[in-house]
Amino acid sequence: MIGRLNHVAIAVPDLEAAAAIYRNTLGATVSDAVAQPNHGVTTIFIELPNTKIELLEPLGEGSPIAGFLERNMSGGIHHICYEVDDISAARDRLVKAGLRVLGDGKPKEGAHGKPVLFLHPKDFNGTLVELEQA
Ligand code: CO
Repeated sequence: MIGRLNHVAIAVPDLEAAAAIYRNTLGATVSDAVAQPNHGVTTIFIELPNTKIELLEPLGEGSPIAGFLERNMSGGIHHICYEVDDISAARDRLVKAGLRVLGDGKPKEGAHGKPVLFLHPKDFNGTLVELEQA
């Protein structure tokens, strides 16, 4: 069921400063910043040969990553995203196994315009897991 690692998301207090290290020091391909008001974040994607890093900076009031950055002031790994072929089938299988899907359990459009779900970190050894339909 589980497919490729789509991205690792890192919450950062200063998006441009974080992106500059990847662009200038590590020589990575770095996207422009994109405001995602529906998700309460501004994102920059770092393209690596085998996956992506998603830098997240809070946007607006009540950003879902504001609390995380209060606890981790210099930033930190916020979630990892795995691809699945059929997100509804994956959700049903996880729920049947007793795992917790966050929110109302319905896939929402994620940062790439594809359906995503988030799974409870307590069911994944303290790691917030995003599933994205491939
Ligand atoms: Co993500």
